[in-house]
Amino acid sequence: RSSHHHHHHGEFDIPTTENLYFQSGIRRKCPNVLNDPVNVRINCIPEQFPTEGICAQRGCCWRPWNDSLIPWCFFVDNHGYNVQDMTTTSIGVEAKLNRIPSPTLFGNDINSVLFTTQNQTPNRFRFKITDPNNRRYEVPHQYVKEFTGPTVSDTLYDVKVAQNPFSIQVIRKSNGKTLFDTSIGPLVYSDQYLQISARLPSDYIYGIGEQVHKRFRHDLSWKTWPIFTRDQLPGDNNNNLYGHQTFFMCIEDTSGKSFGVFLMNSNAMEIFIQPTPIVTYRVTGGILDFYILLGDTPEQVVQQYQQLVGLPAMPAYWNLGFQLSRWNYKSLDVVKEVVRRNREAGIPFDTQVTDIDYMEDKKDFTYDQVAFNGLPQFVQDLHDHGQKYVIILDPAISIGRRANGTTYATYERGNTQHVWINESDGSTPIIGEVWPGLTVYPDFTNPNCIDWWANECSIFHQEVQYDGLWIDMNEVSSFIQGSTKGCNVNKLNYPPFTPDILDKLMYSKTICMDAVQNWGKQYDVHSLYGYSMAIATEQAVQKVFPNKRSFILTRSTFAGSGRHAAHWLGDNTASWEQMEWSITGMLEFSLFGIPLVGADICGFVAETTEELCRRWMQLGAFYPFSRNHNSDGYEHQDPAFFGQNSLLVKSSRQYLTIRYTLLPFLYTLFYKAHVFGETVARPVLHEFYEDTNSWIEDTEFLWGPALLITPVLKQGADTVSAYIPDAIWYDYESGAKRPWRKQRVDMYLPADKIGLHLRGGYIIPIQEPDVTTTASRKNPLGLIVALGENNTAKGDFFWDDGETKDTIQNGNYILYTFSVSNNTLDIVCTHSSYQEGTTLAFQTVKILGLTDSVTEVRVAENNQPMNAHSNFTYDASNQVLLIADLKLNLGRNFSVQW
Ligand code: NOJ
Repeated sequence: RSSHHHHHHGEFDIPTTENLYFQSGIRRKCPNVLNDPVNVRINCIPEQFPTEGICAQRGCCWRPWNDSLIPWCFFVDNHGYNVQDMTTTSIGVEAKLNRIPSPTLFGNDINSVLFTTQNQTPNRFRFKITDPNNRRYEVPHQYVKEFTGPTVSDTLYDVKVAQNPFSIQVIRKSNGKTLFDTSIGPLVYSDQYLQISARLPSDYIYGIGEQVHKRFRHDLSWKTWPIFTRDQLPGDNNNNLYGHQTFFMCIEDTSGKSFGVFLMNSNAMEIFIQPTPIVTYRVTGGILDFYILLGDTPEQVVQQYQQLVGLPAMPAYWNLGFQLSRWNYKSLDVVKEVVRRNREAGIPFDTQVTDIDYMEDKKDFTYDQVAFNGLPQFVQDLHDHGQKYVIILDPAISIGRRANGTTYATYERGNTQHVWINESDGSTPIIGEVWPGLTVYPDFTNPNCIDWWANECSIFHQEVQYDGLWIDMNEVSSFIQGSTKGCNVNKLNYPPFTPDILDKLMYSKTICMDAVQNWGKQYDVHSLYGYSMAIATEQAVQKVFPNKRSFILTRSTFAGSGRHAAHWLGDNTASWEQMEWSITGMLEFSLFGIPLVGADICGFVAETTEELCRRWMQLGAFYPFSRNHNSDGYEHQDPAFFGQNSLLVKSSRQYLTIRYTLLPFLYTLFYKAHVFGETVARPVLHEFYEDTNSWIEDTEFLWGPALLITPVLKQGADTVSAYIPDAIWYDYESGAKRPWRKQRVDMYLPADKIGLHLRGGYIIPIQEPDVTTTASRKNPLGLIVALGENNTAKGDFFWDDGETKDTIQNGNYILYTFSVSNNTLDIVCTHSSYQEGTTLAFQTVKILGLTDSVTEVRVAENNQPMNAHSNFTYDASNQVLLIADLKLNLGRNFSVQW
């Protein structure tokens, strides 16, 4: 073995007695004390406090350190696999890997595994390690399917496979940089414990979830991130939360080159990040199935990831409007009052939501006939005002009777069709407990269950004409551990290795791991519950609203959930720090391909304050998904509650009005998310990767490439120390050019202000705002041209009816590209097959950054001669030209010259 020394392990050729062990007949050497780089130690006892005894049993090296973060017991080179018979296939290589005889960690090691690689696209490499003799769990994903070709020859990557022991390196061809190098640690492949480590080339890592990461950029100091969906509120800790997200992105250098790593696996796991950096996966089942994505920019990597797992859904236009919600309005009268006062306050407000308190005894598909008497009429009133109504639905179905003693029809019908998750016997529905008391759990991976669910949604819709569905508690949550009967003692409920999940108990706050679903055992499919429920709900919505987009908001997510649903960040706390962390949370879901995301504005748990809520309304007006939601038992926090003439109302109205003005821009960004996987709420680093200052920026963010949002995140502050990236910027509200660029500035943001800056070089479509999108969609459009370098700018605009499904596939939309050069704005319609849209017109064009006074404006349609246009004003102090009264109807091409 001496010829296969890993030099970074710093081994000495002549072992001393101190570091010589004999274990299972295998000689194992610890690195020399003087050459023992602790940062590359791969922990051999990840599950508990290390002892020398366990370390010796595992055949690892024991060397305590002066803190307990650094592993005291770590792997050397006697663990792993050797390569046998590597052959090339049409799309990669294939090899048998044989386990190097060594002590086990958690038992049931698989001695011979199959390693396969696939050069799937020039940018995308996949490798998987499976058991050729026993089929192991693989996720039945909607979009990530088995790959069959075609063969690609020109890849951006090279792959090197080391043989003894096995390791893989993925290298970027263009510069020889090693992006992913597993030689840094052993491969462990046992029935319920898979481990692999990779050394990465850069300290800038983003993604992985769902947990609270206080900073967008990962902390590399020995952090364990457990992944297993869980009904757990975000806090100041590393807890596993609602979603199961295994994707991360890593930026390599200031040219923007970046890569992404995605592990397709739904089993409970932890991802461990340590300096160097090294990322170690400790996975409790399934297979190792990695996708490495290479991009020229961070944004490209994220696009590739979304193309792999499913591009995000195109939202209905009204989904982008503001929503009001709370838990426990207590009665419909209170809801009516909330709607009334916020209408009176002129708060742009599309959607009223009700939580579980609208239900009778918290039972899905019922409503409280006393406290919510008149609900159908109330919904009619919302609709009459161009507003929408969204209801919550929980997956768990009560097994109890109705309040009036009759049977609960939803439950009865589900029973008849056998749609519940079963106990380990595969036939007895498992019973847990949620809001309505004892419950069964629909198995949304069972096609009969999807039919039953769609049918229930449809029956209830005939009674209460809701417009969208909020699906909650789908981790799946249970208030009792496992079931009313507890859980069996077996290796699924008590696996030999439990990742660092909350309570260190697999079935904590959920059902037993040996429960059975159509897709598999709970042990394997647990984290897919919310994913499957979103897909089932998508089908339900299709039945209820044929050919319409509706709205689905899910708490639990998996890779690709954005194709089916929006997400909110869960039960946050009304605190300044949680408001700040919400930006990182939102940006992470941008990476995960779930762009319609936001946090509960003003905070869910705890009493908010006027100041916090005002600042949060300002920030939340720019969450892609904008909803004020509050927990049970706290004072109201809808804007109008603070008083019709309050500063909070004034500022909320101001920024929600700006949001509604910008909706054509936001909607266009969603179009580009849906078609190309571009991010909507975009990290500053995606646009300004040349500047390493942007790599750590997470207290501000962008809408697409063009709108910089700088919120106030500190109590009592009216000035924000903000980093202004390298571009020309205009203050959105005054239109004035800022004297700032590539520098940190003190941005003055008094009580009623959030920082909004338009980036020079971009053209933004806008629309005269209104208090609902139903109304605003009919108003005149406009363009804001923010002149950039050389007085040029560009932009685009997507428009359709805002609710019909598949308008893009069917071509029923209008698409524009805009460009400015030489004092001429070209408005080019590249697609025009949405006839109704042509009654709308661009009425105003506002040009920011025009240094010279304007004496003449000319307009032409379709290259006809230019005609003088008289309605324009030039504001010399702000250098803004405003052209009004244009009547440039959609569907045609125009030029505007000044
Ligand atoms: C938990 C959800 O996260 C929260 O938003 C909701 O208000 C409660 N369940 C009650 O339904």
